[in-house]
Amino acid sequence: MIEICVPGDKSIAHRFLILAALAEGDSVLTGMPASLDVRSTTACLRALGGAVEDGGAGRMAIKGSTGWRSPTSGLDCGNSGTTARLLTGLVAGLGVDAELRGDESLSRRPMDRVVYPLQAMGAQIRYTDRRDHLPLRIEGRASGGLRALRYRPRISSAQVRAALLLAGLTSRTDVEILDRFRPRDHTERILRSQGAPIISEPEGAGERIRFPASSWSGGLKPLAAAVPGDVSSAAFLIVAALLSGTDLTLRGVGLNPTRGGFLHVLSEMGVEVRTVLTGVQAGEPVGDISVIASTMHPFSIEEALVPRLVDEIPALAVLASRIPGVSVVRGAGDLRMKESDRLAFLASNLRTLGVRCEELTDGLRVHGAHAPVTGVVRTGGDHRIAMAFGALGAAPGCQVTVDDPQCADVSFPGYWEALKQVTTGEDSR
Ligand code: S3P
Repeated sequence: MIEICVPGDKSIAHRFLILAALAEGDSVLTGMPASLDVRSTTACLRALGGAVEDGGAGRMAIKGSTGWRSPTSGLDCGNSGTTARLLTGLVAGLGVDAELRGDESLSRRPMDRVVYPLQAMGAQIRYTDRRDHLPLRIEGRASGGLRALRYRPRISSAQVRAALLLAGLTSRTDVEILDRFRPRDHTERILRSQGAPIISEPEGAGERIRFPASSWSGGLKPLAAAVPGDVSSAAFLIVAALLSGTDLTLRGVGLNPTRGGFLHVLSEMGVEVRTVLTGVQAGEPVGDISVIASTMHPFSIEEALVPRLVDEIPALAVLASRIPGVSVVRGAGDLRMKESDRLAFLASNLRTLGVRCEELTDGLRVHGAHAPVTGVVRTGGDHRIAMAFGALGAAPGCQVTVDDPQCADVSFPGYWEALKQVTTGEDSR
């Protein structure tokens, strides 16, 4: 049994930073990942006046509510969709002026999903170049107070929810959101752990959440928390272990049920998955995950499950390519709007490697086989495409060259060394 830790969860780290900066008092965060995306959030918060001090080795000290200001230059969100969308909500609610921009890939991703409901709240936001895309400018000082919002998003997105909750929190405006499916609930959990009244009720397959911020006169308590390991990063190592017949234990990983779709699918495939809860950090369950390599069956993923494993589909697609039979993913059209068009990149790369794979408008059909795969894959600069094909290439009998291995640093610096450790048992770090 190989044992390994993965970097801190990116989704949680972004939220810890932002909510610590909004708290009344000083917060200390540990286990912060060195991921480039999280660095983008840190830099943007500093530009807005947030006092975030990097103590090294994943420790950050944050002085809460230091006074927000309009940054003198644009906020660079880099490659990070979570930074861009959450900060749009934050800035709109804070009532400061800022321009948000991102790298080429981020500038291709849709922003209307947060801009539209924020505009409905009265936020003054305009695109400086192309509708629905960064860069965008928020005239917070011109917005005045925001209006209460009741909203049914077209797609269920945790980033949209978080952006609206942040706008509600900072402008003390009521927000109610009804999602068709329940997205990851990190923002709600952390806010509740800080004392904010967030009410959630199941509704059909989805959820209604309410934040009566206008009648809440409290302040957010500071955070003293360690970021749980990232289950989305763990997924690539788990796939590599299963493909090479290695039993693997990951220590200190986030076990939030709204991120549990990947482990659920593995169990359905016949993998023995054991989880042990070891603690809770700011409302987030943490524990150990063990997977025991076993004979696996193909899987079928439907729309309702997608929000619980949206970032793990690249890992599952490469796993499917080695399991005889047909695995199917449906209801995942939003994967075309990620750091790359993930459905297109997965399908074309699998085909390049000799795997039969059909690209559907909202998913994939992968015809798995034991035949070895060989070839060069293109990542389009997308960290999860790089890591997925890295895991496949590490399987016995497979030889895959990833054109841009470095892009894994966006979420998992040290991935290639960790992969080697999992598949060969050698610790090259
Ligand atoms: C994230 C939510 C998901 C996910 C992304 C991180 C977050 O996106 O794909 O990597 O931190 O809220 P959507 O909210 O668009 O589903």
